[in-house]
Amino acid sequence: MPNATPTRKLEGRVALVTGAARGIGRAVAAKLAAEGARIVINDRDEGPVEDAARALRGSGATVVTCPGSVTDDGFAHGFVNTAISKFGALDIVVNNAGYTWDSVIQKMTDEQFQAILDVHLIAPFRILRAASEPIRTFAKQEAAEGREVFRKVVNISSVVGLGGNPGQANYASAKAGIIGLTKTLAKEWGRYKVNVNCVAFGFIKTAMTQPIAAEGERRVGVQPELLEKLEREMIPLGRLGTPEEAADGVYLFCTPESNYITGQVVIVGGGIAF
Ligand code: CAA
Repeated sequence: MPNATPTRKLEGRVALVTGAARGIGRAVAAKLAAEGARIVINDRDEGPVEDAARALRGSGATVVTCPGSVTDDGFAHGFVNTAISKFGALDIVVNNAGYTWDSVIQKMTDEQFQAILDVHLIAPFRILRAASEPIRTFAKQEAAEGREVFRKVVNISSVVGLGGNPGQANYASAKAGIIGLTKTLAKEWGRYKVNVNCVAFGFIKTAMTQPIAAEGERRVGVQPELLEKLEREMIPLGRLGTPEEAADGVYLFCTPESNYITGQVVIVGGGIAF
């Protein structure tokens, strides 16, 4: 008898992904959708989010959009409410949105340090605080019915949060902070059957890791010499990761196979040690 259609692991689940218009976030949204999840995607600007949504729908995904900066007041409630009002559920939250704004500490302004904390740490905190209301309500109802339903939070950290990186005092601090948030919520939300884990990316091929070229106030990227050294010496698998490989790391923490894993940090970095 021919094989039956393989079961999709996330059939019917509702996932929220920030920063999903491009790069890793978009790959995460595509992966979760391919596994059957219905998705709420966010990015800062409406045009790119709508483009991403159209592409995902073209591949058969069920997607709604929630554009806006994750750092805006009121964003978190709007994001969570979109999931509840459109789909009546909230099962997976992936806190992915972010950018870098590098300088050595003697050149780093208060604004620069705060902006990076806001997007990588404060915004995830607010989104998870907003999500705590429906999560606790659903979980209490399920417990009363004698059902154990696991929900998933995947926060995005970085090897830079574990090991530091010259020029990234702001980003490294935020990415270390998100690990503390993850571990605390794993302890607070075990009673609600929420697995709260962290994926720490190494160097993944995105706009953030392009070779630094232009001079300017906000140079984004990695020194070309460091990129070369990474591939030659520092990454045992010998190259930067792809957004799809990064998304696969996030996906592992969204599957039923991770139901008994919480409060953990896994490096998705081709073996890079920091
Ligand atoms: N360590 C310490 N100090 C350094 C330094 C380093 N590696 N490089 C330069 N400096 C110092 C210089 O000595 C100089 O100090 P003095 O004024 O005392 O002479 C000062 O910084 C300014 O030097 P420059 O003008 O040459 O340096 P810059 O400010 O233009 O850039 C840098 C220096 C900020 C460290 C820059 O190299 C940089 O941005 N590095 C980080 C880039 C990077 O790897 N980003 C990671 C992107 S990937 C990512 O973020 C994703 C992820 O999760 C992995």
